[in-house]
Amino acid sequence: MRRGILSLTAVGLLTVGGVAACGDGEDTGPGGATPKIGVILPDSASSARWETADRKFLAAAFDAAGIAHDIQNAQGDKAAFQTIADQMITNGATVLMIVNLDSGTGKAVLDKAKSQGVATIDYDRLTLGGSAQYYVSFDNEVVGKQQGEGLVKCLADKGAQNPVVAELNGSPTDNNATLFKNGYDSVLDPKYASKEYTKGPDQSVPEWNNTQAGTIFEQMLTSTGGKIDGVLAANDGLGNAVISVLKKNNLNGKVPVTGQDATVQGLQNILAGDQCMTVYKAIKQEADAAAELAIALAKGETSNVETTVKDPESGRDVPSVLLTPKAIFKENVKDVVDDGYVTQAELCAGEFAARCAEVGIS
Ligand code: BGC
Repeated sequence: MRRGILSLTAVGLLTVGGVAACGDGEDTGPGGATPKIGVILPDSASSARWETADRKFLAAAFDAAGIAHDIQNAQGDKAAFQTIADQMITNGATVLMIVNLDSGTGKAVLDKAKSQGVATIDYDRLTLGGSAQYYVSFDNEVVGKQQGEGLVKCLADKGAQNPVVAELNGSPTDNNATLFKNGYDSVLDPKYASKEYTKGPDQSVPEWNNTQAGTIFEQMLTSTGGKIDGVLAANDGLGNAVISVLKKNNLNGKVPVTGQDATVQGLQNILAGDQCMTVYKAIKQEADAAAELAIALAKGETSNVETTVKDPESGRDVPSVLLTPKAIFKENVKDVVDDGYVTQAELCAGEFAARCAEVGIS
C-alpha cells in the first residue's frame, strides 16, 4: 500500500501526537504516524440519522482508506463540543469535520483549529461567518421545496379546500432550517397570497427538540380550535411529534404531515398513512464526498471543488459539494430500501410486514 509514504508526506510539519484512543473508542486505523481525522456529530435526539447513518458511512469510508479516525457526538452540548475538538487536536487530528450546534460556537471551534494548522470541513450545516475549507451537504433549499410541493400534492389528494397550513420549522440556529424554510415558503407563500391556502401558525423548534415540538403543535391546534388541515414539519422527528398529537385528537391520517431524513419511523408513518412524505438524502453519498475531501486534506493534498456557496454572513465563497435530495411518498418508499439506506427487516417488522407488501417491498 502507498499508505505509509502518503502518511509521512501528510504529517509534514504538523505534529502528530500518536493516535491515543479518545472518548467513545471510535479510533481506528493503522496507528503510528497516520494522519487522523476527527468528526464531531451534533446530537442523537434531533434526528436518528447522525448515529444510524452518518457515523456508519463516515467510518466505513475512512476504514476503506486505512485512515485513523475518531468520530464523536457532542450530544447537544456546546461546551463539550469545543472540549472534544481540543482533545482531537491534542491527540493528533490534522483534519476536523464538524456539524455545528450553532454558528457562533461552530466558528470558535473552526477558528481555533485553523490557528493550530488543522484543516476543517463543515459537514451538512454551514457555519455562518466560519472558516471551514469545504462545505459538504445537500441542496437544502431544494429539500424545502420538495417538502412544500409534497404537502401541496397531499392536500390536493385529500381534496382539501382552502386548507389552513401550519409550519413547524427546525432550529433557528441551524442555517439548514433557514434554507429548508426558504424552500417550502417559496411554494406556500404564493398560495397564501392568492388565498388558495390560509396561513396558520408558523413556529421554529429550538434545537429541533422533538419533545418541545409536540408541545408547540398542541398549542397550535388549541389556538386554531383544531382547524389545521396540513402541517409542514421540517423533519421526521418533528413530524412524528405532530402525528402523536394528531393521534390523540383522532386526526392522524386526515391531516397531511411532511418530514425529512427517511428515518425508519418516518417511513413507517408514511406506510401507515399518517405522514404524507419525507425527503430522502442519500447520506452515504454525503459521507463519501466529505470523507474523500478529508482524506485528501489529511494527506496534505487540496481538492479542486468548483462549486461554491456564499456564506451570507461573511460573503465568503466556500468551496462546496451539494447533493440532490429525493421526495418520498408511499408509492416510492421502496426506493429507500433498494438504495440500502434502511433494511426491509427493520422497516417491515411486525405490523408493517403487510403494509410493506402493499407497496411492493417483499
Ligand atoms: C439536517 C437534517 C436533520 C436536522 C436535525 C439538519 O441540519 O440537515 O437532516 O434532520 O438537522 O438534526
